[in-house]
Amino acid sequence: MANVAVVGAQWGDEGKGKIVDWLSSRADVVVRFQGGHNAGHTLVINGVEYKLSLLPSGVVRQSKLSVIGNGVVFDPWAFIREVNAIKDKGVSVTPENLIVAENVPLILPVHSALDKAREEAKGAGKIGTTGRGIGPAYEDKVARRAIRLCDLTDEAVLVEKVDALLAHHNALFRALGAPEMTPADILDPLREIAPQVLPYAAVVWKQLDELRRAGKRILFEGAQGTMLDIDHGTYPYVTSSNTVAGNAAAGSGMGPRAVGYVLGICKAYTTRVGSGPFPTELKDEIGELIGQKGKEFGVVTGRKRRCGWFDAVMVRQAVKTGGIDGIALTKLDVLDGFDEIKVCVGYRLDGKELDYYPSNAGAQARVEPIYETFEGWKDTTRGARSWAELPAQAVKYVRHIEELIQAPVALLSTSPERDDTILMTDPFAD
Ligand code: GDP
Ligand code: IMO
Ligand code: MG
Repeated sequence: MANVAVVGAQWGDEGKGKIVDWLSSRADVVVRFQGGHNAGHTLVINGVEYKLSLLPSGVVRQSKLSVIGNGVVFDPWAFIREVNAIKDKGVSVTPENLIVAENVPLILPVHSALDKAREEAKGAGKIGTTGRGIGPAYEDKVARRAIRLCDLTDEAVLVEKVDALLAHHNALFRALGAPEMTPADILDPLREIAPQVLPYAAVVWKQLDELRRAGKRILFEGAQGTMLDIDHGTYPYVTSSNTVAGNAAAGSGMGPRAVGYVLGICKAYTTRVGSGPFPTELKDEIGELIGQKGKEFGVVTGRKRRCGWFDAVMVRQAVKTGGIDGIALTKLDVLDGFDEIKVCVGYRLDGKELDYYPSNAGAQARVEPIYETFEGWKDTTRGARSWAELPAQAVKYVRHIEELIQAPVALLSTSPERDDTILMTDPFAD
């Protein structure tokens, strides 16, 4: 039985939430394996909108098990806020249908304070992070000084670890001219939140192993996208985790063969939020129009997303580096009505042509896109639920993208609504 990993193939916000929600009807378990509450995943079900950041997008289906894996960085206060918000919408969330890996590292107030102070100090050169403390929390994990969820059960260990953590962070705060923190600043809020979050703590690797052996279907939900991956993205303008499907296993406590099919999500154009290079960015009225039609504003920070044409070179690179088997192409409807549509098929750099995106930050900023131009379509694709409903030019556009990125389109999304989705290949099929 193939388990499926859903990952972003661009710079995030490709529509992963919608696709994970749709696919989760075919799964038993939905697992988040990286990132944190920097993610913003939107689901629209019968006109009702749900915005999820830390909770897996399967949570709305109540009967499915939602799992936050060890590869996530976990803010306990954000978690409780989100659980309460979704409960207010009438969704039942309990430790029966939502569990969190006991070895997940915590995001603490020191982390968001440091994230913001660093961004401020960088000024114009800032990364444009979400300010949620994601980078500093991953730094502490790798430096082996993170406080983990399981530490909240052991007061003596917790006190010792907070002292060690502050020895490091207060030195940084002094250097940044920011106020220092006392152990009580960390310990008191942690002691208060612990009884609320600990009921969700679980030995996730063990439960996933049992579920897998019982033949249950697992859907891994990625956050961000390949171009924000710490290794394969536009470094240093990236997030601090591996966003590719290769991380799904390590980030949930399973072996590499746990992932059978990798579904990459990409928009029929490109967006990016935050700083960093973006070869096909449109800083003109076409970019504005795409942003307006696509409602391109960030879910987490409300920032306006930068918009541009589809970059087939970049998505092909995401297909290769991430082992993507098929694509879910979203927001095709946003391109309805354009006279012509462009697609980047190569780059020009210093008089040479490139068929890949280079790693060097200077080269990434300087490459110029080589475009192919397509005739647009006048009829609408919005809300189409079958291939036959699509205008001929839209079909041509999709087919050409498949060739350029060297991966088939398995799903097509034509509106934010759950059921406005066309299935070509079932990723869960054996
Ligand atoms: P994620 O971070 O990848 O889950 O994506 P976001 O939720 O941040 O952003 C995608 C946005 O596009 C959301 O507002 C979705 O409701 C919306 N969306 C998803 N698929 C489609 C689609 O096919 N057409 C249109 N017009 N909107 C879509
Ligand atoms: P979803 O899951 C789009 C971007 C930020 C910034 C960079 C680093 O909704 O696709 P961070 O706070 O992670 O240290 O910020 O990454 N970023 C995202 N952009 N979608 C996301 O998540 C993002 N999560 C982080 O804007 O440029
Ligand atoms: Mg998003």
